[in-house]
Amino acid sequence: MGCCQYFTPTEKGADTFTVDMPRLTFGRGCLAELGERVKARGVRRAAVITDRFIAGSEHMARARRSLDAAGVDYGVFDEIRIEPSDTSVMDATRFLEDGDFDGLISLGGGSVMDTAKAAMVYARYPATFSTYFAPPIGDGAAVPGPVLPHIACPTTSGTGSEMTGLSVIRLMDHDTKFVLASRYILPDEALVDPACTDTLPARVVASTGFDLLSHAIECYTARAYTHWDKIASPLARPMIQGANPWSDLHAREALRIADAYLVRGVADAADHEARDSLMWAATLAGMAFGNCGTHLPHAFSYGVTHLMHDVVTKDYPVPSPFVPHGISVILTSPSVFRFTAAGAPERHLEAAACLGADTREARNADAGEVVAARIVELMRATELPNGLQAVGFAGGDAEALADSAMRQRRAIGNAPRETNRDDAVGIFSGAMSYW
Ligand SMILES: [Fe+2]
Repeated sequence: MGCCQYFTPTEKGADTFTVDMPRLTFGRGCLAELGERVKARGVRRAAVITDRFIAGSEHMARARRSLDAAGVDYGVFDEIRIEPSDTSVMDATRFLEDGDFDGLISLGGGSVMDTAKAAMVYARYPATFSTYFAPPIGDGAAVPGPVLPHIACPTTSGTGSEMTGLSVIRLMDHDTKFVLASRYILPDEALVDPACTDTLPARVVASTGFDLLSHAIECYTARAYTHWDKIASPLARPMIQGANPWSDLHAREALRIADAYLVRGVADAADHEARDSLMWAATLAGMAFGNCGTHLPHAFSYGVTHLMHDVVTKDYPVPSPFVPHGISVILTSPSVFRFTAAGAPERHLEAAACLGADTREARNADAGEVVAARIVELMRATELPNGLQAVGFAGGDAEALADSAMRQRRAIGNAPRETNRDDAVGIFSGAMSYW
């Protein structure tokens, strides 16, 4: 590919990338299309997977009206927990096994969609839970084949899970989250209705907004796909395949939207222009990371989620300890990018420029600081916690956080420079506070 120096071919490196996408429908009010879309897929009885809060919401009422109007039969499972675990996935699996379903609708945030994807796998292809997760925690077995037809309907503007074949689940015995990746769990359709975000509290828009922002920067600064080894079979090409021209396209636009609308979308629930734009940015960033993979901020966030203690977040009705995913990601991001910039300085500067930083006088040596400073500026403007210390960690936790993080091999390998345990300790130590 001659369009960009970053993708210069290497002798043993990949020379090909693959893009996978669901059919995408986007627009305010499009949840009303749900029933007709389910019916058009020949689904007789659909499983609707959601959580308790959505189940009682106007969004669920709209979904029900649409399904009823189309004459689609359905059963509802609303016991999804935020930060899904192996046990909560198995609860959903039993619901699918018992319900005689031939299609699935997920209505909710990343926890709902990720649970639905994993539960469909275990319902169709029963196995011990670690079977389909990546080593060293899982056995790395491929999902054997298709699961139920799936229409994913996100209700938050950050996860991008509706656009990916990835499911992130908490494995309680291993003290971490881990990724199940398969093209078979890519939803068949994504029905993205920004009206679902009208009722989101400010803290939820902030957390999910930083999640999408980090998806986009991580994709833009990820190791180039040409720097991953060639694969033996086209079917073995992983979705975490590294930065590529497709992921670039969507990451850049997602960052431009985040620059223009993140602060506005957090500040004012009535600002439909901002909230609709953030929903589009989340979709774009999902298209990017679903075909590229994230790197250190996400890999490092999983340890943060599991090792945190005694903390709650305003606007989230979840018992302590709880740090929302987007916040657990962004709290290490500035420190990560200060470290990774040396591996791809131009890319970090371009990402910072898309995010609104003034890079005209910046040299390559400044790249990490420039992107970190812009993220910190946005964190302060949206009243995010000031680093890991603000959610209960202390400097002495850096070693345990690093040990947890280093198990995320593929994501760590997707960073633009080699990262060892000492580097990880340094990154966590640098993420304790920013101002
Ligand atoms: Fe994320």
